[in-house]
Amino acid sequence: MLTYKVKVINEGYLGGVVTDAIYIVLVGVNCETVKHQLHLAWKNFLPDDDKEYELPSDEDLGEVLLVRLYKERSLCLPESPWYCGKVTVISPSGVAYHFPYYQWLVGSVVREIQEGKGIILSGDPNPLIVKQRRTELEEKRKSHRWKMYCAGAPHCIDEDGILFIIRNDQYSLAKHTLFLLNKESLKVEMLMEGYRRCTKSWTNLTDIKKIFSNQRTVTSDLVSGLWKEDTFFGYQYLNGVNPVIIKKCTKIPDNFPVSEEMVSASLSASTALRTELQDGNIFLADYEILLDVTPNTINGQLQYIAAPMCLLWKTPQNDIIPIAIQLGQTPGEDTPIFLPSDTEWDWTLAKMWVRNADLLVHEGFFHLLYTHLLAEVFHVATTRQLPVGHPVYKLIIQHLHYTLDVNVQARKSLIAPGGTIDLFSGCGSAGVNVLLRKGLERMTYTSLCLPDDIEFRGVQSIPNYFYRDDGMSIWSAIERFVSDIVHYYYENDEAVCEDPELQAWVEEIYKEGFLEYKDSGIPSSLETQGDLTRYLTMVIFTCSVRHAAVNSGQFDFYSWMPNSPSSMRCPPPARKGTVTLQTVLDTMPQVNTTAVCLATMLLLSVDPLDKVCDLQPRFLQRRLGHYPEEHFTEDVPKKLIQDFQRELAEISRQIKKRNEGRSLTYLYLDPENIENSVAI
Ligand SMILES: *[C@@H]1O[C@H](CO)[C@@H](O)[C@H](O)[C@H]1NC(C)=O
Ligand SMILES: [Fe+2]
Repeated sequence: MLTYKVKVINEGYLGGVVTDAIYIVLVGVNCETVKHQLHLAWKNFLPDDDKEYELPSDEDLGEVLLVRLYKERSLCLPESPWYCGKVTVISPSGVAYHFPYYQWLVGSVVREIQEGKGIILSGDPNPLIVKQRRTELEEKRKSHRWKMYCAGAPHCIDEDGILFIIRNDQYSLAKHTLFLLNKESLKVEMLMEGYRRCTKSWTNLTDIKKIFSNQRTVTSDLVSGLWKEDTFFGYQYLNGVNPVIIKKCTKIPDNFPVSEEMVSASLSASTALRTELQDGNIFLADYEILLDVTPNTINGQLQYIAAPMCLLWKTPQNDIIPIAIQLGQTPGEDTPIFLPSDTEWDWTLAKMWVRNADLLVHEGFFHLLYTHLLAEVFHVATTRQLPVGHPVYKLIIQHLHYTLDVNVQARKSLIAPGGTIDLFSGCGSAGVNVLLRKGLERMTYTSLCLPDDIEFRGVQSIPNYFYRDDGMSIWSAIERFVSDIVHYYYENDEAVCEDPELQAWVEEIYKEGFLEYKDSGIPSSLETQGDLTRYLTMVIFTCSVRHAAVNSGQFDFYSWMPNSPSSMRCPPPARKGTVTLQTVLDTMPQVNTTAVCLATMLLLSVDPLDKVCDLQPRFLQRRLGHYPEEHFTEDVPKKLIQDFQRELAEISRQIKKRNEGRSLTYLYLDPENIENSVAI
């Protein structure tokens, strides 16, 4: 008689009593053991539980390929879900096998878990593995189904199986409850109380400080002082919350007829627009995507959306400053080109219109579509097409955690008709749908891959562009890590081509996420190790770095409403010289709209878990490159993870150093502040 030792490790998952019976069978290349019950009790949910079970076997199983878990309901007790982290098996001769799973088992189910070695089907694996993977994917495709959210947007999860999903997406009970009960939302409630019913305009700008005053950050304070300055307006294109929109401009667009005379007062006397265009010092922010986006109605009042164009100049002092603004796409008498030499309030309001457009494009396009919805596409496709034993699953799954739940919540309460967004944004739920459709038509693989994006936008040499610099350092670190993983599991390019699971995954993302838009340049299949490396780098970057760049600064830059009005109550001025401070106050959101916007930005910017001190260690575990779940069990990938972490730590050190002594810091892309996944 031989004895196999078995341990079940459920790190960190505290939970209720499991009343269901759990059985295990070990499946080896030669034969399998009989069904053996694991006597689980509440004790099993303590973090360090190491209860060891002994499984007898008449024969030598040979290499252990799979463990099969049975969860069977007891007759009269309610069903209890069971979280299975990792199963470890020690053979009689002392060989250790690890079976990472990290998922919930819900209902009466049988689940087979593959041993931890990453396996691809082009490597000709054991037929038992092939069969297990087919069954696993069939099951997962039943629970994770695609659904259309709105015409022209990427497809999303059909949340009918939502309870199941939440469990398997590990948006654990703890996090869920915290989200509802956390102190931030209570504070927000209190903050809102005095302003909830006030639909007046602000009577002056300093009054806005009142709601702003008990919630602020170092940066938001600075913003409230700097918002009117042209240099700060330009700075936000590089290091604000939407650092991805400006492009080099080498020719003045036909529909934005800026002339030499118009800008001569802004440029230094020694130069001319023509020269600056040639020298690559002119940039453009074009919000044409907002054309025909349905405006919202707030407090019974129809709001206005403009599709402005803003020309910027890199000064010899290396500042980026706006030099001309047109609040529409069609030039004409009613669409004057505003200039810094106009009256203070003409110019200020013109900039506010641009900031408003920037906020709408940022939230709907670069935040919601480019990160949240795309991460969801990656998640659903990964679940449906990649089995747990696939190396790509192992590599990216922790970059996809929490996203489904956050997005389902957002669709229910934030961007749904009548949701929070309808209370404060010029682009309400109806507008968001238009923006998503137009956005997807414009989304490109180039813009998703940072090095290509920087080149395409022609912004390689702008000084002090920290989003680019930090982003590029991290992109390279991710790319090196991913490339090593790819080369470890894929011997050559043929192995990539011949991996049916991988190809089905890429194709599904192309179909369901990009609606087969060829022009997007997003691949529908991958041919080489290099292709695969780039693609996976893009996936990880999107879910972590890109999201941090467009998410973390929301409160900093948006809480001082004049800096980024969330909605505009009057049409853009059609004549110069008509704007006064009163026009500005009447254009900006009313008091209670301002309050609800502030509250939302607060909730969206902070991860509730961050603020709860005793859970801080869990955030540290979830930061970029730190993987609390051990999906990789082999030495090589484990070492590669450590190298990756070391590299990120070095990048973090350099970023901290650069920020030392600066009042306006850029720390959103310090790897220590970046989460692995889109989780808020
Ligand atoms: C603002 O006040 C009006 C009037 O009391 C109310 O109908 C509206 O719902 C309020 N808006 C918000 C965002 O609370
Ligand atoms: Fe977000």
